[in-house]
Amino acid sequence: MNSTEKKIILVSNRLPVSVVTRGKSIDFTQSAGGLATGLDSIYGEQNSLWVGWPGISREKAGKNQRAIREKLAGNRFHSVFISQKDLDLFYNGFCNNTLWPLFVYFTQHVKYDSRQWEAYVRVNQQFCDEILRISSPEDTIWVHDYHFMLLPRMLREKRPDQRIGFFLHIPWPASEIYRELPWRDAIIDGVLGADLVGLHTNDYVTHFLHSVRRLTGIEHYLGTIRYKNRDVKADSFPMGIDYQKFATTPAEKPVQREIKKIKAQLSGEKIILSVDRLDYTKGILERLEAYELFLKRYPKYREKVMFIIVAVPSRTKVESYQQLKRQVDERVGEINGRFGTLGWVPIWYLYKSIPFHRLIALYRAADIGMVTPIRDGMNLVAKEFLAANEGHPAVLILSERAGAERELGEALVVNPNDIQGMAESIKSALELPRKTILRENAVMQERLKRYDARRWAADFLERLDKVEPISPRSVRRALTPKIRTQLLKAYHQAKTRLILLDYDGTLTGFHDKPEAAKPGKALQKILGKLTDDPKNTVAIVSGRDRRTLDEWLGDFNLNFIAEHGVWLKPQGESWRLIEPLRSDWKTSVRPLMEHYIDRTPGAILEEKDYSLVWHCRKVDSEFASRRTLELMEDLVQLTAHLSLNVLQGHRVIEVKNANVDKGRAVAQWLNQRDWDFILSIGDDWTDEDVFRVLPDHGWSIRVGDTDSHAKYWVPDVNRVLSLLDSLSGRMTNE
Ligand code: UDP
Ligand code: G6P
Repeated sequence: MNSTEKKIILVSNRLPVSVVTRGKSIDFTQSAGGLATGLDSIYGEQNSLWVGWPGISREKAGKNQRAIREKLAGNRFHSVFISQKDLDLFYNGFCNNTLWPLFVYFTQHVKYDSRQWEAYVRVNQQFCDEILRISSPEDTIWVHDYHFMLLPRMLREKRPDQRIGFFLHIPWPASEIYRELPWRDAIIDGVLGADLVGLHTNDYVTHFLHSVRRLTGIEHYLGTIRYKNRDVKADSFPMGIDYQKFATTPAEKPVQREIKKIKAQLSGEKIILSVDRLDYTKGILERLEAYELFLKRYPKYREKVMFIIVAVPSRTKVESYQQLKRQVDERVGEINGRFGTLGWVPIWYLYKSIPFHRLIALYRAADIGMVTPIRDGMNLVAKEFLAANEGHPAVLILSERAGAERELGEALVVNPNDIQGMAESIKSALELPRKTILRENAVMQERLKRYDARRWAADFLERLDKVEPISPRSVRRALTPKIRTQLLKAYHQAKTRLILLDYDGTLTGFHDKPEAAKPGKALQKILGKLTDDPKNTVAIVSGRDRRTLDEWLGDFNLNFIAEHGVWLKPQGESWRLIEPLRSDWKTSVRPLMEHYIDRTPGAILEEKDYSLVWHCRKVDSEFASRRTLELMEDLVQLTAHLSLNVLQGHRVIEVKNANVDKGRAVAQWLNQRDWDFILSIGDDWTDEDVFRVLPDHGWSIRVGDTDSHAKYWVPDVNRVLSLLDSLSGRMTNE
């Protein structure tokens, strides 16, 4: 590999091979699980490097670390060794005792432990450091699965322009479930460090977008989320398999020999097969129960069928897996004891991982594949089973809760909790006409052939390449250090300056209660310095009421506009109305707004002299959007015959007199003289009225990157304060 060429760096907890040590010798085995097998089939076709854990702790590897690293480097695997302590806290702990059970809806197994969380942060950081060391900013980094949900953000912090993709191989749960996680904000923030977030199905994408909306309040537009001034795209990419490999291997001699060997041990029984990691999500106990019920209900099938259960050992240090192992052992023993005869064992139970050729032989020898997980992100076994049976009448019984079901609807689809339904589906599968099986399978096989692992990866990487994290318009309008310097220069050269500042969202952040946004010490200092300069005329152009502005800011040499342009107070004068206004309309509008307040816990009504405002910042964001929309419709109807404006802002609706706005109010100051320097800063639609009326040489800045009449944008309040601070200081380059 040419190290200067652009690389694709895959990152996953598990490498496709794991180290096994026997005494002093080091051996490697194939890792189990869909991520490792699926990615392995496409890996190597690109100029790529796979970063992951080689399946052995740092301490256990000991002196062999170097040898292992070198051996794996030959396959372009980059090993990251994790300490024994972190394996316990990170892998057995936070990954498999918290994230895994929560994301697959097994909340009874979820444990929350802050030490495990700290280890999760630590290992993500360890991988981040390692990746930064071995990659360059031009590389594409593709992070996989729930072990590394903080990694995209950590990488982004260090390399703002790096292409970063994230793919989750397990379901994204409904937001009610996700919200149980104490570290939910950090995890969402971590994932949103990527440019593209991939999930297996549309349902998971919907759940993800929903969780983002509920936790951050950010709406998506066609799957694109504008977060921290970047566009992050979320979409579904159903993972495929190496179809050709599974379809052609059955014809190979060793596989054929293996099939003969299996059949030779039977007396013509039909084979039902299941292959899974021994995991509580896979529905193994329920499947056993269904098989038992089937044997009970249909005695004629006893000695005519047999069930081969392959359960691959998985996460054996985790208590819930140990418990499941004991339960499965027990149930298999019970069923074999109860139904078995001298010449017939109803269940063959293999608790081991099996080599590829034997796996294919089993797929091909089987008459029925039973894939009935209670919850599964995708499930590749179902796809592999179908591919290995091209032209062969093998029936797939598939759980409706496997992601794969979205593509394999022609299978015998079952509810994995419906024991009776599953028992009946075994009978139906045995009795299905050969022609029907072949016909239905062919449709699914065609689909799997088309969207195979290669297509899946290419699709994801192409999309990742196309994501424009920062739109050209945003780049054009960002207040870069260069433009900032020009602004400072213009300010310092000017003899007369007009500075128009919005308050909430511009000089101070948003708070649940409007009265909690009092100016802090830093802001007071900045305003003090700005207003003390005799060349400056500074106006606060706010939507707030007069009393609050007087109380909070009355001591400064400021000019004021209150209630979005209803009231004006030039410095040293008293408040006056912009024009004679009426407020008698309030009596007919207030009841409607109060009615909505009663039905929306957390919403409040703010009454100003000439406007009524509905605030729902504290309301759950989805509910807030719905209620705001409904209220908006009702208000528009109610006020149709009145000379009123109904304006919708950031979780706010304001009803006020028509033709009164901040733009009209600032004319009072704009028209006073020919100002050498004009600066206006604001954060929402009400400030757009000001931006629109500024003369050409005026500087206008909007907080947040949205469509705006402002010439420039800055990301947040801190940037505004730092800019204002440097206006009153000496000229610097920030
Ligand atoms: N598999 C394996 N070793 C075995 C049996 C199966 O590696 O002894 C593979 C199987 O071929 C499949 C993967 O493990 O590719 C299981 O992936 P799946 O998506 O079905 O479930 P996961 O284990 O990822 O939850
Ligand atoms: C699932 C996960 C993978 C994981 C695999 C095996 O498929 O999505 O990330 O590698 O299970 O689990 P393990 O804990 O052995 O890596």
